[in-house]
Order: sequence, then C-alpha cells, then structure tokens
Amino acid sequence: MTSSYKGYLIQENDGSYTGSVESIDIPEIEDNYLIIKVKYSSLNYKDALSASGPKTGVTRNYPFVPGIDAVGEIIESKSTKFKIGDHVVVTGYSMGMSVFGGFGEIIHIPSDWAVKLPSTLSSKEVMNIGTAGLTAAASIKKIIDVGIDKDKPILVSGATGGVGSVAVNILNKLGYQVHALTGKNTEEEFLKSIGASSIISREEFMENPIKPLDKSIYGGAVDTVGGDILAKMISMISPKCSISACGNVAGMALNTNVFPFILRGVSLIGIDSAESSIEFKESIWKLLANDWKLDLEPYTRTIKLNEVGEEIDKILDGKQVGRVVIKHGE
Ligand SMILES: NC(=O)c1ccc[n+]([C@@H]2O[C@H](COP(=O)([O-])OP(=O)(O)OC[C@H]3O[C@@H](n4cnc5c(N)ncnc54)[C@H](OP(=O)(O)O)[C@@H]3O)[C@@H](O)[C@H]2O)c1
Repeated sequence: MTSSYKGYLIQENDGSYTGSVESIDIPEIEDNYLIIKVKYSSLNYKDALSASGPKTGVTRNYPFVPGIDAVGEIIESKSTKFKIGDHVVVTGYSMGMSVFGGFGEIIHIPSDWAVKLPSTLSSKEVMNIGTAGLTAAASIKKIIDVGIDKDKPILVSGATGGVGSVAVNILNKLGYQVHALTGKNTEEEFLKSIGASSIISREEFMENPIKPLDKSIYGGAVDTVGGDILAKMISMISPKCSISACGNVAGMALNTNVFPFILRGVSLIGIDSAESSIEFKESIWKLLANDWKLDLEPYTRTIKLNEVGEEIDKILDGKQVGRVVIKHGE
C-alpha cells in the first residue's frame, strides 16, 4: 500500500480559505476503525460551508479535507464488524466536519459509522443519493409516519437543490402530487421531469405577508431552506398534517406563531440526518435500495477532484441543480 493519497485540502492563506488537490499521508489505523479507499463522494451544502473556513461553524481546524459522504472498499480493518474487501457507505457524523472526509481518496473512520453497501445499489448510485437523498428520504418517512393528506399536494422548497430535488423525485414515485417551490424560473422543465406537477416561484410565494394562519392548501411539506419560507409554509399546512425542516440557506431565524400547532394540530419535524443512529440510516438506505429506489443518473453530474472548487462556489450561490458526485481515480 502507498503511504499517501490525493485529497482536496482546504488551507488558510492570509485569512482566506482555499482548496487544492494535495498529497496527504495515510494515517495509522486505530482500534475499531476502518481505512477505506473511497470510490465516490458527493457534494452537499455542508461541504461548501466546511470549505469556506471556520466562520461558517462546520469545521474548526484546518488544513482539512471536507466530504460528508463516501462510498468505497475497506483496505484495512481493526473491527469485527467489517473485513478487508467489504464495500461500505459512510455519511455524516463527524466525517467532513472534524474527521477528514470523502473529498480524499482515503478515509479513516470508526467502524460504527459505516453501512454495508446495499446489494441492489451500485457505488455510483449510492453517491447519486448521498446525504442529500438520505435527508430527503428521512424527511419524507417522518412526515408520512406523523401524517400527511394524500388528497392534497405536498410542497417541497429549495426544489432544484440536492435535498429538494430528491424529495420531489421520491414523493412523485410514491404517488403524491408534488408542488415545487423554487427561486430558479429557468428550471421548470427540470422540475417537471423529476415529477413536480406545479412550479411555484419563490418570489410570488413570498409576495404577500406571512399570516398566522393561511389557507391550508398543502397536505404536508418538506422544507430544505428555513427562514421566512418555512414560516409561510407552516401557515399553509392542513389540519393534523406535518412538515419537516432540515435546512437554513434562507435563514436561521424562524418567526412563526403557535396557531398552526394549537388550532390545526400541525407537526413540525426537525431532521438531523448526520447524527441519526446507524440503525435509522440503515433503515432509510433499505428503503432507497428497494421500494423507494430512484434513477438519479440523469440528474447527477460527475466531476473530478480538481473540479470541486467551482462546484463549491455554485452551491454557495444557490445555483446548483440536482446532484454532483465526485469520482476518485482515473
Ligand atoms: N438537517 C440535515 O440533516 C441536513 C442534511 C442535508 C442538508 N441539510 C441542509 O439542507 C439545505 C439544502 O442542502 P443541499 O445540499 O440540498 O443544498 P443545495 O443543493 O444548495 O440546495 C439548496 C436549494 O435551496 C434554494 N436556495 C438557495 N439559496 C436560497 C435562499 N437564499 N433562499 C431560499 N432558497 C434558497 C435553492 O433551490 P431553488 O432555487 O430551487 O429554490 C438551492 O438549490 C442546506 O441548508 C443544508 O445545510 C440538512
């Protein structure tokens, strides 16, 4: 085995943080850890925050290799759970935040962060889904479990983004009528192709002030952006139905009121996929590998490590559409 690997390393230079492909030493394996040769990673909003320096609150110590997602083959194991040659998928926990992540060809992680690659999904298919898809599926599973109204549309915000676009895809596959809320008026065709029956412009949606209770036209919702958009969505959810919240690209503050909760029995469900138990992650991968299996290949771009920088800029600008997968090696 060689002693170094290639990774997209973020380093501080005169107060600014920039990334480049560098050669990095492979660490010594610790007890109950795995060393994995990463085949693919994927790009998530959190990776872009990690790549932007400590002010964004994701990563404290640099030089650092981001990448909250990785799939690959175990090349060293000090765990009884997995052996050399097993193919595994790793998402979240501290990987890509404080532990070097999937933007490197090698990761060294605790074995209880890994899930066996489902037999019905290829490594590429798993990363087409990635944390974005896992989060979308968890958001949908949770609103279905708590309650949504099948006869009304389900609203998805940030619909062209990673989490949003996979959520539209899954809801459409499950037979729901999906309304897609987007800031990109150029992406109507894309949103229709993934199963949205109606496209709502973010500007129009936010035109009128947020009311304590608006018309309850949605049977449920998946919010990926937070802020005032989430506040408005909550006011439009039908009685006894639910809405999940996972993101904050539109803002951290949530200026809502108690009426949707105490007069309509609406449930607001928080999603934290990175820190979910490994059993929960396994159960969601099982859904995505079987009944909820999607073909995301047409909506996923595959890039090389040296192209990561420009894709990070795009995601920070809210300009990404669909999913981006990073392929290691030639
Ligand atoms: N809690 C969790 O477990 C978890 C897991 C994964 C991701 N997340 C969070 O979920 C969010 C989405 O992540 P992602 O990886 O899907 O990112 P992404 O691909 O960049 O998608 C975000 C989408 O939000 C919309 N958007 C961007 N800026 C906006 C703004 N200022 N106001 C309103 N909408 C805006 C855009 O879609 P449109 O143009 O179509 O509106 C954008 O494509 C992020 O906040 C991320 O941190 C949370």
